[in-house]
Amino acid sequence: MSKLQFKNKWILVTGASSGLGEEMARQLAFQHQANLILLARRKEKLEELKAELEKEAKVSVKVISADLANLEDVDRAIDEVLKNGQLYGAILNAGVTYFGRHSELPWDEFQNMLQINVISVVRITNRLVDFFETTGNEGGILLVSSMAAILPVPYQSAYSGTKAFILTFASTLAHEIKNPRFSLTVYTPGGIATEMTAGEKFSDLRSWLVPVGEAARDGIYAFRNRKSLYIPGFLNKMGSVLMNLLPKKIITRKMSGIYYKALLKSEALNIKP
Ligand SMILES: NC(=O)c1ccc[n+]([C@@H]2O[C@H](COP(=O)([O-])OP(=O)(O)OC[C@H]3O[C@@H](n4cnc5c(N)ncnc54)[C@H](OP(=O)(O)O)[C@@H]3O)[C@@H](O)[C@H]2O)c1
Repeated sequence: MSKLQFKNKWILVTGASSGLGEEMARQLAFQHQANLILLARRKEKLEELKAELEKEAKVSVKVISADLANLEDVDRAIDEVLKNGQLYGAILNAGVTYFGRHSELPWDEFQNMLQINVISVVRITNRLVDFFETTGNEGGILLVSSMAAILPVPYQSAYSGTKAFILTFASTLAHEIKNPRFSLTVYTPGGIATEMTAGEKFSDLRSWLVPVGEAARDGIYAFRNRKSLYIPGFLNKMGSVLMNLLPKKIITRKMSGIYYKALLKSEALNIKP
C-alpha cells in the first residue's frame, strides 16, 4: 500500500485545541499542506488555530465545536465531517486522564472518561470505516492510544484501561477491513508535555515527557506510513519487549512504585489534581 498523501486532502483532527492534536494539525498544515477539520469543545481556540493555518500555511480549515462526552454531539460532528464525501483521513486524538487513587475517582468522571476515550472513538470509527468500505476511497484513520495500554499504570488505572481498549480494538478491527486503499493505525506515545501533564501532580514524572512536536511528528509518520501499531522511541520499544518477556506483575509493580511516589509527593505539597 502506498503512503498516505495529505496534500489538499481533508483530515479530521479531534482534540485539536491543545497538546498533541493541535501540534499534529499544525504539522499537517505546514509540512503536508493538508486541509483540516478541527474538533474540540473550545471553539475560540479552534478559530484562532484556523485563522493562523489559513493565513500562514494557506490551507482550508473547518471548525467543529463538539463535546465528545455527548453522543448527540458526536453524531452531529460525524454527519458534518462526512457530508461532502471528501474525507481522506482522521486522527482520533481527543482524550482525558485521571491521575490518583482509583477509589477517589468520582463515578461521573469515570463515565466521562469512558465516553471520550472509548465510546466516542468507537462511534466515530464505525461511521468512518463504513464510509471508506462503502466508497472504496483511499484514506486512513489514526487512533491515539498510549504506552499506558502496554505498560499498565497504577494510579491511572481507568485511563490505562481505556487506552488498552483502543489498542486492542484498532489492531483487531484492522484485520476486518476489506478496502485495500484504507489503513487503520494505532499510535502509543509515552508521556508528552501537554496540558494533560502540565499539572503539578505530574511534576515528579516531568523528566519522562517528550516535547509535543516530537510526539506529533512520530504520530504523523505512523499515520502516513500506514503502520498498524506504532510504538515511538527506543525506551518505549524496550518496555514493550520486556512486557512480553518478563512477568507482567514485575513491570506493573515497578510502574506502581514510580507513580505512587509522584502521587505522594504532590499530596505532601497539598497539590490539587
Ligand atoms: N500527554 C501525555 O502524556 C499523553 C501520553 C500518551 C497518550 N496521550 C494521549 O494523547 C491524546 C491527546 O492528549 P494531550 O496530551 O494532547 O492532552 P491535552 O493537551 O489535554 O488535549 C486534549 C484534547 O482533547 C480535547 N477534549 C477533551 N475532552 C473533550 C471533550 N469532552 N470533547 C471534545 N474534545 C475534548 C481537548 O479539547 P477541549 O478541552 O477544547 O474540548 C484537547 O484538545 C489523548 O488521547 C491522550 O490520552 C497523551
